[in-house]
Amino acid sequence: MKIPFFVQEFTSEMESAALDALRNESFVGGESVVKFEEEFAKYTGTKYAVSVNSGNSALQISLMSLGISDKSKVITPTNSFIASANCIRMVNAQPILSDIDSRDGCIDVSSVTEKADAIIPVHIYGNPCDFDSVKSLAEQQKIPIIEDACQAHGAIFKGKKVGNLSDVGCFSFYPTKNMTVGGDGGMATTNNEEIALKIKSIRDNGRKTKNEFDKLGFTMRLNTVNAAIGRIQLKHLDEKNSRRREIVGIYRKKLAEDCILPENINGKSVYHQIVIKHEKRDEIRKKLTENGIGSAIYYEKPIHMQEIYQEYGLTLPNSEKFSKEIMSLPSYPSLTDEQVEIIAECVNKIIN
Ligand SMILES: Cc1ncc(COP(=O)(O)O)c(C=O)c1O
Repeated sequence: MKIPFFVQEFTSEMESAALDALRNESFVGGESVVKFEEEFAKYTGTKYAVSVNSGNSALQISLMSLGISDKSKVITPTNSFIASANCIRMVNAQPILSDIDSRDGCIDVSSVTEKADAIIPVHIYGNPCDFDSVKSLAEQQKIPIIEDACQAHGAIFKGKKVGNLSDVGCFSFYPTKNMTVGGDGGMATTNNEEIALKIKSIRDNGRKTKNEFDKLGFTMRLNTVNAAIGRIQLKHLDEKNSRRREIVGIYRKKLAEDCILPENINGKSVYHQIVIKHEKRDEIRKKLTENGIGSAIYYEKPIHMQEIYQEYGLTLPNSEKFSKEIMSLPSYPSLTDEQVEIIAECVNKIIN
């Protein structure tokens, strides 16, 4: 590929932080873990941040810490990575998959009619969802909110960072995300001490004290070396998010038609994905491939159409149409202005 869809980043700063942690700290539970958590909490503006080994783990443990169990139902949108719904089933609860707003790909709560025990809105593509509508549904149903902010590190809704809008925020550091840890990793953010302590305990086998265990739990901690790399990545997150916004600016200026999401304004996106919505999607992708330019589709199959969700027998028309028209263009901060212009010109050959 002349311009790949994604380029993994490994800088010398990340390398020396990793070596330093491996040489001088405990592999598990080292000082870097504590520091990364403190710095991440400060960044999101929450009182607590608890690191874990993935975004999926953060979601599962958050649900458990809120008492979600086999008798519970949890609302989440169908246009997301499968983990947003699987986490619900992993704690034996039942997902209620909702349709989406086609202007940003986020949850449309007006499509939800059932009573639930919790809701997981997803700030998909780095776009903050319409959190006011989520909050009013949660207040009406008297249920907690867990934000799936796995794609939205640094996104802002009404002056507050996502992950600090609700009971718990969940982040992923998977290598393609706006920030990573040199491997899998995740974080749960909260202002509630009791929830923070439960998450800490569940990620560590349900530990109460050194030798006492008072609940069931997993081994889902973040390794010290990954925390050390995460600290470096967090330090550069804002500058990288700014570069993503610059890239979107160039795309919007150069594309013959502004078909970039979001079309509506719900706060400040961090453009984890730069998504265009166009009926000639497949032709655009073909042209890009012919020209050595990578692209992707997030997501080709909404969750309710995946094999393990077919038993629910759902039809969610907005997301089904949406999934046929969307595609992601390269969005990583190291893209040059010239590369973005080349990509836009190539897309223009089809949409012009
Ligand atoms: C929206 C969303 N939710 C959950 C996850 C799960 O995160 P992880 O892959 O770190 O388990 C991801 C990441 O892949 C995601 O994009």
